[in-house]
Amino acid sequence: MGAARRNAALLAGLVAPSQLCAVVKADGYGHGALPLARAALAGGATWLAVALVEEGVALRDAGIEAPILLLSEPPTAAMADAVGHRLVPTVYTPEGVRALGRAADRSGAPVDVHLKVDTGMHRVGADPDDAVALAAAVADQPGLRLGALWTHLAVADGADEEDRAFTATQLHRFGVVAGALADAGHRPPLTHVANSAGAIAFPEARCDLVRCGIALYGYCPTPALAGALAGATGGRRLEPVLTLRAEVAFTRRLAAGERPSYGRRRPLPGGSTVATVPIGYADGVPRRLFDVGGEVLIGGARRPLAGVVTMDQIVVDCGPGAPPVAAGDEVVLLGRQGGQEVSATEWADLLGTINYEILCDIGPRVPRRVVGDGPGPADGGD
Ligand SMILES: Cc1ncc(COP(=O)(O)O)c(C=O)c1O
Repeated sequence: MGAARRNAALLAGLVAPSQLCAVVKADGYGHGALPLARAALAGGATWLAVALVEEGVALRDAGIEAPILLLSEPPTAAMADAVGHRLVPTVYTPEGVRALGRAADRSGAPVDVHLKVDTGMHRVGADPDDAVALAAAVADQPGLRLGALWTHLAVADGADEEDRAFTATQLHRFGVVAGALADAGHRPPLTHVANSAGAIAFPEARCDLVRCGIALYGYCPTPALAGALAGATGGRRLEPVLTLRAEVAFTRRLAAGERPSYGRRRPLPGGSTVATVPIGYADGVPRRLFDVGGEVLIGGARRPLAGVVTMDQIVVDCGPGAPPVAAGDEVVLLGRQGGQEVSATEWADLLGTINYEILCDIGPRVPRRVVGDGPGPADGGD
């Protein structure tokens, strides 16, 4: 977890004096929410954010004391749990404010809420015209305090003029809402807007707090942003946190023309050792990876998939070479081996998706082992 801690430190330094909120929803983008939360806090994050009340409760139950933001308004049925576990709910409806007010009254402790306005993402958030009324509704609830005003950017990772102009429009709309709230006497102690891309590309969007997910895990949303980050940090770069590895379970010598796996899709170009590795699409190796030329690392070399990814296993064309690949050999699906690297971005580019989806799809059957200087057994490396 040294990499996650160092990424957090890099981001915290970049955005200071703004605070860093580490987004650890979806089990820390597939990495494991708890170790990532601990590493991020050790690196300088002061806040955490999750999507679901259950995710926040799990972190609290594990002993995390940092403030934990819920990125959407909780369902009414979950509000007591959110309040009972000192989570910081987002609100954007009058019903949500009233229900939280009741939950806060029952708990007897004041509850900070973060009011979210929709400035253009159009997913969740209050209409900007309703923001002052909602802030007043929060003020009317004796158990609630307005802890922040916030919004979310839709195209902060976009490099073209239109995207940059839209982000500027969102920032302008946000400023107008913040001004209207202030005019009405509502001055929340915090404002926050930026995700990883916003934090890197739009210094004016850093406000009091930035909510970084993907960058914490060592990936930039785009190569251009990686360059911008390096430019702003004297050449420092994010480090991918996760290595997805397995071991060869079985090998077979097969003749040229044999067609491994379901569908018998492709003949081997030559006689080859075909290695079977016990990890498949149920574990997050996309089934289409074979069609798009996916490779894994064995013995420090890139090796193509020899056939379609199955639910529990992949087959890898290790070629005729000596020494032959054997059962027990390490297989790196994502990460480094020898001088080679396969990244989540490489898979994402091949598959026409984003690195976020590759990371989040790593399934629950894959044991998460914390290595490096993080909590848990240390066995070296990251
Ligand atoms: C509301 C909100 N804020 C911040 C983030 C973090 O975004 P990123 O991973 O691009 O930093 C997300 C992630 O989807 C989000 O939904």
